[in-house]
Amino acid sequence: MELMKSKIILITGATGGIGKAAAIELAKGGAHLIIHGRDEEKTKHVQQEIIRVTGNTQVDIVTADLFLAADTKAMVAEIKSRFPVVDILINNAGVMMNKNRENTSEGTEKTIALNLIAPFLLMTGLLPCLIKSDKGRIINVSSSAHRQNAEPNFNNISEDDYSPMKAYGNAKLYLILISQRLSALLKENGVDSITVNSMHPGAVATNFSTQSDLGWLFNFLGKIARRFFRTPEQGADTLVYLATSSDIKGVTGKYFIDRKTAEVNPKYDNVANEKVVWNWLEEYTGSAFSMDNL
Ligand SMILES: NC(=O)c1ccc[n+]([C@@H]2O[C@H](COP(=O)([O-])OP(=O)(O)OC[C@H]3O[C@@H](n4cnc5c(N)ncnc54)[C@H](OP(=O)(O)O)[C@@H]3O)[C@@H](O)[C@H]2O)c1
Repeated sequence: MELMKSKIILITGATGGIGKAAAIELAKGGAHLIIHGRDEEKTKHVQQEIIRVTGNTQVDIVTADLFLAADTKAMVAEIKSRFPVVDILINNAGVMMNKNRENTSEGTEKTIALNLIAPFLLMTGLLPCLIKSDKGRIINVSSSAHRQNAEPNFNNISEDDYSPMKAYGNAKLYLILISQRLSALLKENGVDSITVNSMHPGAVATNFSTQSDLGWLFNFLGKIARRFFRTPEQGADTLVYLATSSDIKGVTGKYFIDRKTAEVNPKYDNVANEKVVWNWLEEYTGSAFSMDNL
């Protein structure tokens, strides 16, 4: 594995599935990991498991409920004080919600909260740590669902017309668009040390959507389809590649599947849409891109 030793890597949603499989692989390569979970006991348990399995003792934990912007912001502040330098940020935590719309206690629809707002807050909040790395990388775990299920309404990002698959497809589309926007903003401001890319891990047999009630038909079809899915280790392959390979040096603003660049849904992939989503997020969260913080 290339470029690993002593790199400080933060990975969200590392308590299971693709995130945990990637964390184990990265720890084997000698990285200093910061694993994120939402439950402290579960996260500590995974921390011990990673140390036991890999022999790498450089595994720290942070916890936050990433449904909540306040929790996410508190985690950003904690990371900034504990780890002045972060080399790689992997926004992996994600979920498809239930058939009925659910809002967080902050009033945000949960799919958008976890799959879009939390990665945005982590990216913008941790830029001061990433810029201190000689080669900072941000990797956002999106999904090919952005091609199949997205029906975005760029006039109303947190729209009320909800279905779980549409909300998930939209959130993952918006995540790709803001990855591209941040990549462009960094370039425009002369920052060439940080790259920002997104990826699809394939259909992977994890806990993903197994806890979600999508209605009986989709619940049933999901159970059957899972038998043909990739293992979490296979699902983590492109993620680990993007974090570690020297092939990716200087490559930014791209979307990857199976270690190769792939096309983003051409219907929605343009700079105007990137700006709409980015600006909405800045206004909605009160967190913004600024060179003054760097
Ligand atoms: N599996 C697939 O087929 C597939 C396909 C395309 C894209 N993806 C994407 O891949 C990423 C990883 O998913 P996975 O398949 O590994 O799913 P998973 O097994 O369900 O893992 C999801 C991770 O996110 C964490 N998480 C969920 N809600 C959270 C919250 N409110 N706050 C903080 N953490 C939270 C989970 O924590 P707990 O352990 O506490 O539940 C877990 O660590 C997601 O972004 C997903 O959208 C998956």
